[in-house]
Amino acid sequence: MAGKSFKYVILGGDVAAGYAAREFSKQGVKPGELALISKEAVAPYERPALSKGYLFPEGAARLPGFHVCVGSGGERLLPEWYTEKGISLILSTEIVEADVASKTLISAAGETFKYEVLIIATGSTVLRLSDFGVQGADSKNIFYLREIDEADKLVEAIKAKKNGKAVVVGGGYIGLELSAVLRMNNIDVTMVFPEPWCMPRLFTASIAAFYEGYYENKGVKIIKGTVAVGFDTHPNGEVKEVKLKDGRSLEADIVVVGVGAKPLTTLFKGQVEEEKGGIKTDAFFKTSVPGVYAVGDVVTFPLKLYNEQRRVEHVEHARKSAEQAVKAIFASEKGTSIDEYDYLPYFYSRAFDLSWQFYGDNVGETVLFGDNDPKSPTHKFGQYWIQNGKVVGAFLESGTPEENKAIAKVARVQPPALSLDEMANQGLTFASKI
Ligand code: FDA
Ligand code: NAD
Repeated sequence: MAGKSFKYVILGGDVAAGYAAREFSKQGVKPGELALISKEAVAPYERPALSKGYLFPEGAARLPGFHVCVGSGGERLLPEWYTEKGISLILSTEIVEADVASKTLISAAGETFKYEVLIIATGSTVLRLSDFGVQGADSKNIFYLREIDEADKLVEAIKAKKNGKAVVVGGGYIGLELSAVLRMNNIDVTMVFPEPWCMPRLFTASIAAFYEGYYENKGVKIIKGTVAVGFDTHPNGEVKEVKLKDGRSLEADIVVVGVGAKPLTTLFKGQVEEEKGGIKTDAFFKTSVPGVYAVGDVVTFPLKLYNEQRRVEHVEHARKSAEQAVKAIFASEKGTSIDEYDYLPYFYSRAFDLSWQFYGDNVGETVLFGDNDPKSPTHKFGQYWIQNGKVVGAFLESGTPEENKAIAKVARVQPPALSLDEMANQGLTFASKI
């Protein structure tokens, strides 16, 4: 099949890819020089919408409303934008083979794409229960949520199983956001996860206690300390029951699974250096192979603030790493230099009428402040993490934009901590003085 050739190719079609395309345009890429190749059928969009507004019972978000870069307050890049800029937007095209030595990508349909400079933005894919050998895990109405076609199938199931029962497997981001939005759709929801409290990779027991209490007040049932080990189905193949390791079984019309993600490095195995499961880059997102960059969920990069190589699965890093890589490409062409990437970890979530933000590192001692009673109408609370006498992380539920800015500053500046009692007493006042 005929081949195409570009100066620059972005491989991937979501947040990192879209923000990279915008930066190419800002840097003055010429018509015909750049292609974006994605296996998705739509132009890059703000993926976080899929587990929130996209599933709302009323006034749901739909494309073209949330194409990148609206999530960061930027211009919405519709397919016409790519055409106007002379950028080839190559959709519904999965790359199945990559050869960095000959700078060639080959699609599932056998088309070849040549590049001089490649940006890998393949992101993550979901971990599947079938990967762990869970029996019946491929039954109908068991859903994962990563791409928009999966969200569409879930929307259909929510309509078809009106006022039905759902089991949500996993207590992380997907587990918490999906339980809330399914409940908002008047579905009877039970969450199941193996750990002693939800979102254990970030939350402490005290933070989790607030969310679990709040969810229970909204009617979400929570089963902890066990996992799904199998599924029974109706004769038509639809899921009927979830069997738990502790012997219980739960009726279900819909199952949503969120048991983690893994970076999509497969195409480049043995060709580019990896570290901690991701593609290893420097502070300019250059990989071990000249002319090959990687950005977003798929990379393990130097987190300057902590002097450590890390991988981050969050949207803010996908956006910023993409911009950094493209700036670095143009700087190296001009023989100039740019500053090293200096990312402050930032995670957030929204569910029901709750909204939290976290900045920094969740290591060391913790101190909770504010009103964290899930029944309180004026709930608002936070937590600081303290290591070696310095405040290194800060969490806030229901903060105003100014308050969120203040906790971000704390995590960046790492001021000396006061006594734990004093930190608890001062709460947000401590942050506002930094
Ligand atoms: P991402 O995985 O988004 O995109 C990769 C793209 O590459 C996809 O379009 C894929 O199809 C394509 N691709 C992969 N392999 C390919 C191949 N071989 N050929 C062609 N195309 C290929 N974060 C956050 O901070 N706040 C939030 O609220 C949320 N909410 C949220 C909700 C949901 C449902 C998910 C799944 C994730 C989030 N996240 C989040 C995480 C955030 O969305 C994530 O970090 C970014 O989307 C990562 O962007 P990337 O572009 O790196 O990868
Ligand atoms: P996660 O890592 O946040 O949570 C995985 C959870 O799966 C664990 O907390 C655990 O409770 C559970 N688990 C693990 N094995 C299990 C098993 N066998 N049975 C039951 N539960 C099990 O991953 P996720 O929630 O699947 O999210 C997927 C990706 O999407 C991540 O990259 C995440 O960062 C991203 N995401 C982010 C946001 C956000 O930032 N607001 C929202 C949605 C998704």
